[in-house]
Amino acid sequence: MKTNEPTVLLGVTGCIAAYKACEVLRLLQKAGARVKVVMTPTGAEFVTPATFRALSQNEVALAMIAEHDEPIHHISLAQEADVFLIAPATANTINKLAAGIADNLLTTTALATEAPLIIAPAMNVHMWRDPATQAALATLIARGVQIIEPEEGYLACGEEGEGKLADVQTIAQSTLAELNRSQDYAGRRVLITAGATREHIDPVRFISSPASGRTGYLLAGQAARRGAEVWLVSGPTELPDPFGVNVLRVTSADQMNQACQEVFSAQKPDVAVFSAAVADFKPVTTASQKLKKGTDLPAREATDAVMKLELALNPDILFSIAERKGQCFVVGFAAESENLLDNALAKLRAKGADLIVANDISDPNLGFASELNRWQLLSSSGAEDTGILSKQALVGLLLDRIASKLN
Ligand code: CTP
Repeated sequence: MKTNEPTVLLGVTGCIAAYKACEVLRLLQKAGARVKVVMTPTGAEFVTPATFRALSQNEVALAMIAEHDEPIHHISLAQEADVFLIAPATANTINKLAAGIADNLLTTTALATEAPLIIAPAMNVHMWRDPATQAALATLIARGVQIIEPEEGYLACGEEGEGKLADVQTIAQSTLAELNRSQDYAGRRVLITAGATREHIDPVRFISSPASGRTGYLLAGQAARRGAEVWLVSGPTELPDPFGVNVLRVTSADQMNQACQEVFSAQKPDVAVFSAAVADFKPVTTASQKLKKGTDLPAREATDAVMKLELALNPDILFSIAERKGQCFVVGFAAESENLLDNALAKLRAKGADLIVANDISDPNLGFASELNRWQLLSSSGAEDTGILSKQALVGLLLDRIASKLN
């Protein structure tokens, strides 16, 4: 059952360092967190569930099928967690998590939870360096999982090298920092636009952009998880509705504009983030039937044939909301292929935004469809280079920066 107390779900896997999880648990409790423990069957052979039950003053989750009132154990655990910390995490569990394997209560809960996941690995140095483990860690990092790097030292197996569980203080502090930001948007109202608009020429042809909408959807999901009430106005995309978000699906820029103006007037959001790729122009007329090249369009053989499409300017949604923003903190995006900072700075001023997220789309390894990206956050107080990060991590950082500007 979800309580109002900030809850850390502590996952303990089968490793000699499992006893250190007792100390992590105590540090978290001392700082005011409620801790629930979930163990793998091997974890329970290193430290008995009775120890964790006594320390946490809570039942320890171990069996996939719970014996009493909670019929779907992994789902209730997943929902209860504000942060899921796995410490120590073995190579076996890390590799399973990267592959999405759910073969015990701990791995199943990790798959089911929406809470931020923190992993503190502990293992033999060769297992740590193994390409499979390193690839699994890279996959998890790209998904926004926080890894608390193991230290170098004398390992339980008798070898020297990296693989020793990080210091328990470090693990507790990182977890508490994540817990603190887990509800920093409580009571906040956030409007987000996402995806690309479509400006129809006829029923089957339209002007659009390749933007996937993923950044806006991640923003909406993370803001909701951090306590905000979120309205996501989205262009057509394949992405599923983020959990706990009010989603309004639209097609054209005009529809997106109308939905945004309505949400803005009715909900008076504290934050508005415009991540949608809005088409600047729309066809002056949209044909009600599919245009035929035989009659409406120039014949293919006619090499000098030209089809003229008359375009009209779409409303600038960000600009018009910024004009009446009041206390609302307004964030825009600037995808630029040249003069990144100059163009983004010009947009910050021209559009009346409080912050512009600028990204360089000329780099073929980053940008639109890439999982990795690099942003410059521009505001009146200067520019911040985020460095190359996963979209998940970038979105988390942007929400941190916005939260720090709210009264
Ligand atoms: N934007 C908007 N409505 C529009 C056009 C853009 O709300 N009609 C928002 C985008 O969501 C983004 C920001 O304005 O947050 C900048 O979008 P961008 O396309 O980069 O800028 P434009 O104003 O269209 O300028 P240009 O295309 O000339 O670079």
